Amino acid sequence: EDEDEDEDYSDNDQQTFFRRPSEVFDFDDHRIPLSLSETQKRPSQLKKEVGFINGLTLVIGLVIGSGIFASPGPVASHAGSVGMSLVVWFVCGVLVFTGALSYAELGAEIPLSGGEYAYLNHAYGSLPAFLYSWTAITCLKPGSNAIIATVFAEYVNRIIYHTAFENESDHPTEKTHQWFNKIMATICIIVVSFINAYSVKLATRTQDILTAFKLVALAVITIIGFVVLGKGGLKNNIEGGIFEGSSTTAGDYALAIYSGLWAYDGWNNLNFVAGEMKNPARDLPRVTMVGLPIVILCYLLTNVAYYAVLPSSVVTKTNTIALDFGRQVFGGAGGILFALLVAASCFGAANGSLFTGGRVIYVASREGYLPAVFGRIHSKWNTPTMALALQAVLTIIMIIPGTFTTLVNFYSVAAWLFYFLTTFGLIVLRWREPTLNRPYRVWITTPIIFCFVSLFLITMPFVMVPLESLAALGFIVAGVPLWYMQAKFNEIWSTKGIKQYLASLSQRFHQWRSHSQYQ
Ligand code: ARG
Repeated sequence: EDEDEDEDYSDNDQQTFFRRPSEVFDFDDHRIPLSLSETQKRPSQLKKEVGFINGLTLVIGLVIGSGIFASPGPVASHAGSVGMSLVVWFVCGVLVFTGALSYAELGAEIPLSGGEYAYLNHAYGSLPAFLYSWTAITCLKPGSNAIIATVFAEYVNRIIYHTAFENESDHPTEKTHQWFNKIMATICIIVVSFINAYSVKLATRTQDILTAFKLVALAVITIIGFVVLGKGGLKNNIEGGIFEGSSTTAGDYALAIYSGLWAYDGWNNLNFVAGEMKNPARDLPRVTMVGLPIVILCYLLTNVAYYAVLPSSVVTKTNTIALDFGRQVFGGAGGILFALLVAASCFGAANGSLFTGGRVIYVASREGYLPAVFGRIHSKWNTPTMALALQAVLTIIMIIPGTFTTLVNFYSVAAWLFYFLTTFGLIVLRWREPTLNRPYRVWITTPIIFCFVSLFLITMPFVMVPLESLAALGFIVAGVPLWYMQAKFNEIWSTKGIKQYLASLSQRFHQWRSHSQYQ
């Protein structure tokens, strides 16, 4: 039945944007109406340059960001005990590990750049794929930018208070502090957007330098933590037993897991460059199997270090844990030093996130999903300035009502809905197209586990934090009428009559103009 449809598809010279399920669009601007097995045979247009080591550094560099310096507080306060928060960090890691292995199968079987978009398109057709792009632009990208900027602001403001005021008691009240955070986060987004608009080279340089900062920060925290641990730290925190005080409600764990998962977010990003990998079938699973255990280990060690140095009462309350850590070990100046390292790391993360986000908007505009202005490239700077501007505005809209926790919840509901749909798509494809070439086959239990856990993660917040959850759902659903509108618009637009009429109009206009120039 599917194949018949493909043969009928003869009028592909018409520039319609109406997508049929079997069409594939990869992000290098090529429109390829093919069935899945034909897609696999098609040579990619992109240069294949990403190898194992590039993939590994890409994943580790993308995943480790703001989260490990901001999430430990919310995780600990929801989980309730030292032992349980370490369990939550571990469970989060295992969950994204099962997700990434499933994504590795998808990336090897559909070796296109564009990640979820391409997989959703194949598994379910164009509407879910459209909704994914729509949600990525309006929710996921601005949401994650806003979270990173908020963490940046939190740390920078603490540095400013520390240098400006002698006494802790002179620091702004909680309410004023929240406003200072929003202002600082907005400044961060504007500055980073300008860097990205001004020069690609400047943006990538900034990125390279600042990535080093977070690795230094994490390494130093871990080493200090273990020195303290050797001297008998941590004892105070586990006096009543390591699981003493653990929460007993499912909803609490869902929220704890969400905060933890933010720190692991970005685990799916290797799939976005699958089309540029030398050997996706071999390297996608290999990078996952090496990279994610490194990240998990790194996060567990860092958390143990936090608990070794700080009392759990501080861990549960703080949202600038690295600052408290530094202060506890080295006094005030140490706190500032650590806060600076984290702020630099977040600035780098925001830079990378705005860079890719700008490209997502740019591509959507080139695909006809967004007005053409957002696909413009600045003539001098050679960057998608309008796309970057739109992204900055959307991000600031998220910053204004949000805090770290509300933004993480909002972001996660939307993100995990699509992680679920994508991984479920793997199961659908196994069943619908069993003979397809699958260079890497994941053990089928893996995506099934992932789907079950993510279903729990998607439904729980609707009970616990209905406002953020409904907002996320609202954004996604708002894409549905848009999809029908743009489909209808393109149908009308592509009929010959209107096109010819418009062409003749423009011809007449040009005649009139050249005529009037001579007078
Ligand atoms: N895990 C990262 C952090 O802790 C967030 C990465 C967000 N980026 C993304 N592409 N989803 O800051």
